[in-house]
Amino acid sequence: MTSVIAATAAFIEEKFKTEGSGHDWPHIRRVWQVARALAADTPGTDLEVAELAALLHDIADWKFHGGDYEAGPRAARAWLLSQQVPEATVARVEQIIREVSFKGLGVETPVSSPEAAVVQDADRLDAIGAIGVARAFAYGGHKGRPLHDPATPPVSHEDFEQYKQSTAPTLNHFYEKLLHLKGRLHTPAARALAEERHRFMEAFVAQFLREWDSQDAS
Ligand code: ADP
Ligand code: NI
Repeated sequence: MTSVIAATAAFIEEKFKTEGSGHDWPHIRRVWQVARALAADTPGTDLEVAELAALLHDIADWKFHGGDYEAGPRAARAWLLSQQVPEATVARVEQIIREVSFKGLGVETPVSSPEAAVVQDADRLDAIGAIGVARAFAYGGHKGRPLHDPATPPVSHEDFEQYKQSTAPTLNHFYEKLLHLKGRLHTPAARALAEERHRFMEAFVAQFLREWDSQDAS
């Protein structure tokens, strides 16, 4: 590990240690480690750039910064410049952070580099499966959202503004994002890892609705 990666990991661990919305240090550490593993299978990936972007991808997430989409790239730039990282690397990391986030079901999120592909895939793998379910409800609880409301149907957000403004119940998020992630991964290794997690999520949603409906009937 280069010293700038070790310093970045220590900085982010300290900053996110007590985070309670599912964007905690263990999330970032998993994204970092999974991105490294995916990079090993993805020819042409610059490992240092991928690792720095994975570590910094949620440094100032728009969801917690008034929807400001440049807050993340800006905070990453400030940190990297403080570590004397060259401008060319800083610019590449900023671009990956811009590309990583989901922006609504109807919005394409193409990646412009193999590093962005592995970081986006790693972040999305962490949003599905059992940990993905836990993170979704942690986020919903953090925002004070109901678990479920059959009177509020899921919608397909056609632009990022619409997606940002959604205050829907957490179960809707499965239909509005999580169940679609498997089909939007870039690397074969991530697609293979997604299978079991996706099946688990489908089973979770089906069971949730069965329990909800049986409670309604009683
Ligand atoms: P992204 O940048 O693609 O949103 P993050 O690493 O910021 O990815 O993770 C977002 C996490 O927050 C995911 O686990 C996701 O399920 C959860 N999340 C985001 N929006 C919602 C929402 N409206 N309801 C429930 N969970 C959400
Ligand atoms: Ni993330």
